[in-house]
Amino acid sequence: MDYQNEYILVKDLRKIYARKKHHDLLVFDSISFAVEKGEFICIVGGSGCGKSTLLRVMSGLDSDYEGDIIIDGEKVKKPDKRRGFVYQEHRLFPWMTVEKNVRFVINDGNEEENKKKVKEILELVGLKGFESAYPKELSGGMAQRVNIARALVNKPEILFLDEPFGALDALTRIQLQKELLVIRKKQKNTMLLVTHDIEEAVFLADRIIVLGNRPAEILDIVNVNLSETRERSSKEFQEIRKNIYKYFEYKEH
Ligand SMILES: Nc1ncnc2c1ncn2[C@@H]1O[C@H](COP(=O)(O)OP(=O)(O)OP(=O)(O)O)[C@@H](O)[C@H]1O
Ligand SMILES: [Mg+2]
Repeated sequence: MDYQNEYILVKDLRKIYARKKHHDLLVFDSISFAVEKGEFICIVGGSGCGKSTLLRVMSGLDSDYEGDIIIDGEKVKKPDKRRGFVYQEHRLFPWMTVEKNVRFVINDGNEEENKKKVKEILELVGLKGFESAYPKELSGGMAQRVNIARALVNKPEILFLDEPFGALDALTRIQLQKELLVIRKKQKNTMLLVTHDIEEAVFLADRIIVLGNRPAEILDIVNVNLSETRERSSKEFQEIRKNIYKYFEYKEH
């Protein structure tokens, strides 16, 4: 495989957690894959297989790894404003309004410009009119929209999302999935999203990386060649979903 011109390159990634009271834990032995600019990648895999770890090392939050993670020609060693991160829980400051929570993560620029940026991004995530609300006044879905706005306000080239909709009910989840695709179309970010929900992955992704158990290997990288309006009930959609499910079928010992 020729990796020379890839936007994101993960090559022979090995990650070990050193633990005091237990053996060291080998999460990845040697995994490699590449991502093109603007791609939407979903990562699925069983609990504890290393999905969050993968996002953390790729985004620079954890620089203790072996192998290469190269983004746009540079080795990833620390977090960078060009990369945004959305966590499963919203982590908003309860004493700050929605507007202040988003404003907080912008460190430069003048006041006027930043105000405009925050206003634009809150509109984009559908929170117009809630700028001065406090987190406790928001529904779970709205709080997660603020979370996404916070990750987007610095216009990151890459957005990492770690089970961003995991805590939401099914209907809100479907709504936010649609909204995420609209955002991506407007902002043209490259997206890497971890999910337990195979249907969510098929709905969102251009490609799905299927991870096996620890030390996690890439079991498959599935191309999702579906039309832009992805009908969940369509035969093609269900076919892809079934293909991925087969990796997680329960087997009696
Ligand atoms: N800071 C840490 N120190 C030691 N071990 C860790 C640390 N973080 C994660 N682990 C271990 O590494 C393995 C992978 O964890 P990780 O959180 O990446 O899994 P995951 O696939 O995101 O799981 P889940 O789907 O439950 O969120 C787990 O066995 C976990 O116990
Ligand atoms: Mg996780």
